[in-house]
Amino acid sequence: MRIAVVGTGVIGASWTTLFLRYGHEVVATDPAPGAEARLRAAVTADQTRLTFTADLAEAVADAGFVQENGPERPDLKDEVFAALDAAAPPGTVLASSSSGLLPSRIQRACAAHPERVLVGHPFNPPHLIPLVEVVPGERTGEAAVEAAMRFYRGLGRRPIRLRRELPGHVANRLQAALWREAYSLVDRGAASVADIDTAIAHGPGLRWALLGPFLNQHLSGGAGGIAHVLEHLGPPMEEWWADLGAPRLTPELTDKITQGVAEELAGTAEAGLVAERDALLALLLDAKNRTDHL
Ligand SMILES: NC(=O)c1ccc[n+]([C@@H]2O[C@H](COP(=O)([O-])OP(=O)(O)OC[C@H]3O[C@@H](n4cnc5c(N)ncnc54)[C@H](O)[C@@H]3O)[C@@H](O)[C@H]2O)c1
Repeated sequence: MRIAVVGTGVIGASWTTLFLRYGHEVVATDPAPGAEARLRAAVTADQTRLTFTADLAEAVADAGFVQENGPERPDLKDEVFAALDAAAPPGTVLASSSSGLLPSRIQRACAAHPERVLVGHPFNPPHLIPLVEVVPGERTGEAAVEAAMRFYRGLGRRPIRLRRELPGHVANRLQAALWREAYSLVDRGAASVADIDTAIAHGPGLRWALLGPFLNQHLSGGAGGIAHVLEHLGPPMEEWWADLGAPRLTPELTDKITQGVAEELAGTAEAGLVAERDALLALLLDAKNRTDHL
């Protein structure tokens, strides 16, 4: 398939790598000076099928799928989506990588064919992390949602379909919930930044990379499963919920967090940390792909 990648910064370059690795033809576009050279330096795939044009209309004219990755600014998204709506073939899905904008807001710029506009939100970097959140807006048609789900599955991704549009979609809201309590625990002086990182990375985080919160909870209930867990651990969990914090990002808390991260990293070469994290992530993804149930 011919895929148009619109905006070739961090996310656009990573999508381009993925699309090329799956044998697709990619036409990339970005108005910034030097964008083509930066894209070609960032893409870690065979570039024989990659072409670049600064002309957005030309890039999408024959595209079978459009993945938009321009700056996260509503005025710019309006401008880009109005141009995409006018130039792309009417049946072509226009998917925005937007982390924060609602699809109903984005599709307002598309007077001709709003029914093929949706959010296809990846996790950075999309060529490695399988999750894609497919979010339809008020005017998105069922055919476009199904086409996007098929498209991402065909790229080895694990798309989920949101039933309701919300700021931050689903996965970033879940991350925000954890960050909220982590920041609150530091604010309350309950544990150090380093110890909170240890609590996740050497504790529940190991299982969260394999199964989500509900299945992990179910499997901790033995034969009685989640029903049993909720029966005896539900009431204390509700008490903890009532005690969870709602921290404000005051200058004092911001300083505590920044200082805590610096202390945690003291003596660690950050480049080595990043290289080890990325290498282990690749091994984990490969190992998961070789299991029957994960
Ligand atoms: N960075 C992340 O972790 C992340 C994760 C998921 C989704 N996203 C979303 O992906 C999108 C891109 O984010 P990013 O981090 O790659 O940003 P970025 O700043 O790295 O890239 C944006 C690119 O858009 C280009 N651009 C500017 N005007 C344009 C136009 N009119 N038409 C086309 N391209 C234009 C810029 O030149 C730049 O190369 C945003 O909507 C963001 O919310 C980002």
